[in-house]
Amino acid sequence: MPLTVATEPSSRLRCISCSATPGSAGQDFRCTDCGDLLEFVFPGRTADPQTLKSLWLSRKTSSNKLDQSGVWRFREMLPYIAEEHAITLREGNTPLYGLPGCARTVGVDSLLAKHQGMNPTGSFKDTGMTFAASSAHRGGFRWVACASTGNTSASMAAYAARGGMRSLVLIPEGKISWGKLSQSLDYGALTCQLRTDFDGCVRVLNELVRRKPVYLLNSVNPFRIEGQKTAAIELLEQLNWEPPDHIIVPGGNLGNSSALGKALLEMHELKMISRLPRLSIIQAQGANPFYRSIKEFGGAKLEPMTANTQATAIRIGNPASWKKALRVMGETGGEVEQVSELEIAEAKAEIGADGIGCEPASAVSLAGLKKLRSRGFVKLGEAVVLVLTGHLLKDPDFTIKFHRGDLFDGTPYEKDAARTHRLQRAPIVLDADLDRVIATLDAAEKAG
Ligand code: F0G
Repeated sequence: MPLTVATEPSSRLRCISCSATPGSAGQDFRCTDCGDLLEFVFPGRTADPQTLKSLWLSRKTSSNKLDQSGVWRFREMLPYIAEEHAITLREGNTPLYGLPGCARTVGVDSLLAKHQGMNPTGSFKDTGMTFAASSAHRGGFRWVACASTGNTSASMAAYAARGGMRSLVLIPEGKISWGKLSQSLDYGALTCQLRTDFDGCVRVLNELVRRKPVYLLNSVNPFRIEGQKTAAIELLEQLNWEPPDHIIVPGGNLGNSSALGKALLEMHELKMISRLPRLSIIQAQGANPFYRSIKEFGGAKLEPMTANTQATAIRIGNPASWKKALRVMGETGGEVEQVSELEIAEAKAEIGADGIGCEPASAVSLAGLKKLRSRGFVKLGEAVVLVLTGHLLKDPDFTIKFHRGDLFDGTPYEKDAARTHRLQRAPIVLDADLDRVIATLDAAEKAG
């Protein structure tokens, strides 16, 4: 059967607020008319769902580098970038795991985790970065740059290095994990730790791109959003195109939720799926500007805040993509929730105990699910997918402190932290003596 799909969909940029359609984007990727964000639209795009699904599946056995990427394999859903510019580490292709222990704890029949931490640099950022870094390559840029809480910078540094570009990283000093910092150093980025928070880094970067010819790789860059869409497409393919009832995702700068929601809406419009999953967004209580925007202002405005959470990846007080996230959450019928520091730590240990593991920011998805379940928004028989955004090894300090029992020392949560003891597995130091090891083993067996 001949393929009826276009391999070069015609895409256009459009402002999310005033609907202007500029021919190209400026250095800051904002609308020159009203200053809001831009997004890609695909006027007149049609597809034969069966043909497209078969084409994507057939690429899984191809040796072509684009086909081996879990992002570029779905390139009919993306703006066109020629193969010669494609920088790929074979990102995407991430597993969908069952979480049986967590499902029991929450009280749902079907709970799956789409583990985006299994990407080449250990976070979901790679799916957007492969596409946006390729766009920088096509533009002939020598330098790329981002502000980051650690994962974007790790990913950007890797893709820039692979594409022969230099990268400038702006990160908040002392507020990102060592694992993430070490990645950007090893991948050769020029790494600046600014004495501010993430939002301060964004402010400096926005000024910088107006002064210097560096290519901005934060998620205001619409190419990032397009690449990140593919995680939702891949998820639907893994579920044999039978959508789950709920998809639950952490919210920081709100690029990821915007991207996943955009993909769901596009797939629904193209009749690739027959119904829409509800996309719900969870924030840490100490970094909850989006939650407050919805609860206090019905989403009419967002008041920036000073953010504080030990889930440092989502320590963000002024999320750039909040309007995009608001739209997709509304159109899919999702909800917003906030979770406390203790709830995040517990959920992380529970995901770990299922043999999967993730970084703290990812665990807000499970903590949020518990709340959505107890509110009755998620029901017993419904199928739920959590998006785990980062790998367990991204932030080993958090994990070790939790299991040693000192994660909350000196914090306002110290008193209540006792409730997390049941989940702690502190390392045990012993003499190198067989009897001591056997006694410890027997005691553990008895304790159950
Ligand atoms: N989970 C992890 C592990 C993250 O690194 C981030 C964001 C998020 C969730 C939130 O995603 O911002 O799209 O809503 N990290 C960014 C960074 C901000 O710089 O690495 P979001």
